[in-house]
Amino acid sequence: MRKTLVISGGTRGIGRAIVEEFAKNGVDVAFTYNSNSELAENIVKELTSKYGGKYRAYKLDILQPESYKELFKEIDRDFQRVDFFISNAIISGRSVVGGFGPFMRLKPKGLLNIYTATVVAFIVGAQEATKRMEKVGGGSIISLSSTGNLVYTPNYTGHGNSKAAVETVVKYAAHELGDKGIRVNAVSGGPIDTDALRKFPNYEEVKSEVVKRSPLSRMGLPEDIAGICYFLTTDKASWITGQTFIVDGGTTFA
Ligand SMILES: NC(=O)c1ccc[n+]([C@@H]2O[C@H](COP(=O)([O-])OP(=O)(O)OC[C@H]3O[C@@H](n4cnc5c(N)ncnc54)[C@H](OP(=O)(O)O)[C@@H]3O)[C@@H](O)[C@H]2O)c1
Repeated sequence: MRKTLVISGGTRGIGRAIVEEFAKNGVDVAFTYNSNSELAENIVKELTSKYGGKYRAYKLDILQPESYKELFKEIDRDFQRVDFFISNAIISGRSVVGGFGPFMRLKPKGLLNIYTATVVAFIVGAQEATKRMEKVGGGSIISLSSTGNLVYTPNYTGHGNSKAAVETVVKYAAHELGDKGIRVNAVSGGPIDTDALRKFPNYEEVKSEVVKRSPLSRMGLPEDIAGICYFLTTDKASWITGQTFIVDGGTTFA
């Protein structure tokens, strides 16, 4: 029986690499996009011709976490089951104004937007996924986190504290969902070369600093995160729950 992954933000960066990893390993994928429907549909076509499974793209705005309910109803119509859920999407641009910036310029609206999109959306998405996973005897839930809650990162107070909250939610959810056969973990990335990072005003500086700090002398790539996400959904990870895995090329200890 083929399994199904639901993932937010599957069109670019880390999410795109995760979609590819699961499709390559014979998992059907329901992924979301926010603005770029054409890109999403092209990905569906590409995956279908490469791997021959079932892949569908759905519009989702994580600033409206309640819309996860409708999204999962749509997914129910297209897929037989849900086995894995990955909360990956992240907001950027206008919605993070006042949330992404120096401490003294932080504003409630931007901070709350980041919290809503990062923490609340993860919780609502995981609740909807859990209802489906219970029907198939269990599953695996993952949220993306970031080492920006461990290492000082300029402008990152808003995202950093929300990612710390995500890691706490993971521990609580793991406790409460374990008896349903559902494992819940976080994967915390160091700086990974994606559009989100390229929007940092000091991107070039971050990049050269990462290359300098990492014992592996390079930036992280989306594929570096995708592998561990897949591993965490397999039976090889059957006793791993409530944890945060740091994938940082050794930069956090530098
Ligand atoms: N890059 C890093 O250095 C890094 C490090 C550690 C952790 N992470 C985490 O990894 C995850 C993915 O980051 P990334 O760097 O891959 O991001 P990215 O390249 O900017 O991709 C963001 C994805 O989220 C979607 N998205 C944007 N706004 C959205 C909204 N309002 N509602 C729903 N979806 C939305 C985008 O869809 P559209 O294409 O349709 O806009 C896109 O698929 C995030 O949770 C991030 O915090 C990233």
